Amino acid sequence: MNIPTQYQITKPFDQKTYLINGELKTWTGKTTEVYSTISSTDNYQPTLLGTIPYMEKETAIEALTSACEAYGKGQGSWPTMKVEGRIACMEKFVGLMKTKREEVVKYLMWEIGKSLPDSQKEFDRTVEYIYDTIEEYKDLDRDSAKFSKEAGVYAHIRRGPLGVVLCLGPYNYPLNETFALLIPALLMGNTTIFKPAKHGVLLLSPLLEAFQKSFPKGVVNIVYGRGRQVATPIMQTGRIDVLALIGNSKSAIALQDEHPNKNRLRLVLGLEAKNPAIILPDADLDLTINECLAGSLSFNGQRCTALKLIYVHKDIQEEFNKRFAEKVDSLKFGNPWDDGVKLTPLPEPGKSAYIQELIDDAIAKGAKIINKKGGETTDNYIFPAVLYPVNNSMRVYDEEQFGPVVPIISFTDIQEPLDHMADSSYGQQVSLFGKSVTSLAPLIDTLVNLVCRVNLNSSCQRGPDVFPFTGRKDSAVSTLSVNDALRSFSIRTFVASKDNLYNNKILEELLRSRKSNFISTDYIL
Ligand code: G3H
Repeated sequence: MNIPTQYQITKPFDQKTYLINGELKTWTGKTTEVYSTISSTDNYQPTLLGTIPYMEKETAIEALTSACEAYGKGQGSWPTMKVEGRIACMEKFVGLMKTKREEVVKYLMWEIGKSLPDSQKEFDRTVEYIYDTIEEYKDLDRDSAKFSKEAGVYAHIRRGPLGVVLCLGPYNYPLNETFALLIPALLMGNTTIFKPAKHGVLLLSPLLEAFQKSFPKGVVNIVYGRGRQVATPIMQTGRIDVLALIGNSKSAIALQDEHPNKNRLRLVLGLEAKNPAIILPDADLDLTINECLAGSLSFNGQRCTALKLIYVHKDIQEEFNKRFAEKVDSLKFGNPWDDGVKLTPLPEPGKSAYIQELIDDAIAKGAKIINKKGGETTDNYIFPAVLYPVNNSMRVYDEEQFGPVVPIISFTDIQEPLDHMADSSYGQQVSLFGKSVTSLAPLIDTLVNLVCRVNLNSSCQRGPDVFPFTGRKDSAVSTLSVNDALRSFSIRTFVASKDNLYNNKILEELLRSRKSNFISTDYIL
């Protein structure tokens, strides 16, 4: 097996430490083996990457207690710290994190099969996200460094933390999406418990020490294990103020249901989607095919923003299908470090079988695989099948495949895709391909009411991270952009005082003495 030396797994890594209450403790309990579906040998066999702690209720509650104590009923050093103080901790963290790029990228490739360039991009994008969030936080703080006066009342309004946040990220972006929750939650003064996803766990090991060195004790707590053993008991205590989860709506609902005081629980959720492409007859086919290819098959379609259904107008369907199918077949499959690789092993061992079920179901109901290599299966992969014609009786029409299968539907009446989108459980994004403004204008005006981002002549995506990332219906709760995430993890809170000599003198003294971290009109540059 030809694996470049720097990416070889020479010996399994045992993740023995975990972070609770500012201490890197040593785990002596049960462990879980972590395997990669990528083989290190010529005869296929999954590679043992190492082990992680198998935690249960007791450790989960220990982490929760640590986070609650750090919040300290609002008196903790973190929630009351000056903005500059929290920024300094975050800057220290990101500085240390940057030194771990190679190790994190290596594990991203092995654990989730992400290609080398995409793994590097995930790391770099996360670092950039942290710096952008710091800048945005300074901006937010500068906007709050003032008093407002209304009807004889002075108000000093800021955004304050919500409390204790439980952060759960997805396996497809185990670093970026998890940190896109964790970082803003931390900066706003919340304390956190964070559990990595089911795949993409060891890649976080190099960062444990950075967390420990950068934040006051109990502010970041990291636990390992299955959701049911770890997240469920934490939710049952009712002591979680924010559930921050990127993943599946079933897990999000199940966890909310465990919380005894639902009205106290804030939700920041990025969930599943079934983003369609709608291709109008006057679309530029070269551009459309390239965008649909990247949109449906980047990272094997394992993106919440992936194009999961393609609607093509009947007039151009034949040509689109032919050229799209050829392009899919030209995509190179290989290991993440192979040059020019576009398709890579699937990290979930059962994924190929699930995709095969969707294909079989569609074929039984009248669809065909229209690309030559579609459905070819190897030990850790199923080659993307382009299915046509797909209809509403098939599972692939409604289920989020989150993998390499591309269903195509042809339409003559634009009402068909619009009705499907309106009736669907999801409402994240759409890609609209076409040129004539006469056809585009009314469609744009409708589509913006069905989803939260209409991508004109381009595939769907989350970035740039400064743009709002959200969805309607079962696709999201709250908005995540660099700016919106800071708002989602905080609440407006203020000090009000009647405009009279007695109060004004006290306010002036509070400002002059700099004794309060909240009442401050200092500008952070
Ligand atoms: O899995 C969902 C991600 O948020 C998608 O992000 O569009 O940058 O791949 P992306």
